[in-house]
Amino acid sequence: MDANRQVGILGAGRMGLGLAAAWAAQGWGVTLGSRDPKALAERLVDVDVAGVRPASHDEAVRAPVVVLATPWPVTAELVSAHAQALAERMLIDITNPFGQAPPGSSGVAVHQAALGRPARWAVAFKTNFWTTIALQDGALRQCLIAADDDGARAVAVALAVAAGFAPLDCGGLEAAQALDGMVPLMIELDRRAGGAHRSHWHFATTDGL
Ligand SMILES: NC(=O)c1ccc[n+]([C@@H]2O[C@H](COP(=O)([O-])OP(=O)(O)OC[C@H]3O[C@@H](n4cnc5c(N)ncnc54)[C@H](OP(=O)(O)O)[C@@H]3O)[C@@H](O)[C@H]2O)c1
Repeated sequence: MDANRQVGILGAGRMGLGLAAAWAAQGWGVTLGSRDPKALAERLVDVDVAGVRPASHDEAVRAPVVVLATPWPVTAELVSAHAQALAERMLIDITNPFGQAPPGSSGVAVHQAALGRPARWAVAFKTNFWTTIALQDGALRQCLIAADDDGARAVAVALAVAAGFAPLDCGGLEAAQALDGMVPLMIELDRRAGGAHRSHWHFATTDGL
């Protein structure tokens, strides 16, 4: 196991568990943090998730890369509670605020403020439905990534590829606000298209990007 390919996840729901399984299948060591690790361990028996270690949040935040996969309204408090450890990690924020971030701000900006100290942040996976993680149906699904920190961006890119997505670099963290806004629109467009949750954004140029 590559010592660098270690990731902790806070939140063992649809995204957390789906990403954990996909990353573990690609050789990442995954510590999946839950409020109830014992119940999570029992749930994992029924699914194919070899390589995913059920754990507490305290254990998950020890990984060099930590993914925030909890509901946005509870994530700031969680970040604040683990601020000391998280400030030394690369943080990948996948949470969606659904309009609850202050006007002119973004979900990740609220989490940066909750952390209260400098850290290495990226946002990713906001516009990827959990049903499309590692989905092999021939579609090229982009994972929109924004970061100010090159290292965090590189890790987000690697994690996107490991989950079966094509990474799309959207620039610095200032893009996070726009990405937040794409999610409710995406859900509405998906609903109009039948609500199968297989849809995705695709940016293309005339020269075929
Ligand atoms: N669903 C999607 O397609 C999708 C796509 C992109 C991004 N996202 C974002 O990813 C995040 C997770 O989405 P999801 O669909 O995986 O949600 P979910 O299925 O509801 O799972 C969230 C998990 O967070 C934990 N959690 C719930 N309430 C909590 C609390 N009060 N304190 C601490 N932990 C709590 C729970 O895990 P434990 O019970 O194990 O602690 C729960 O299973 C959200 O912010 C969402 O906006 C979702």
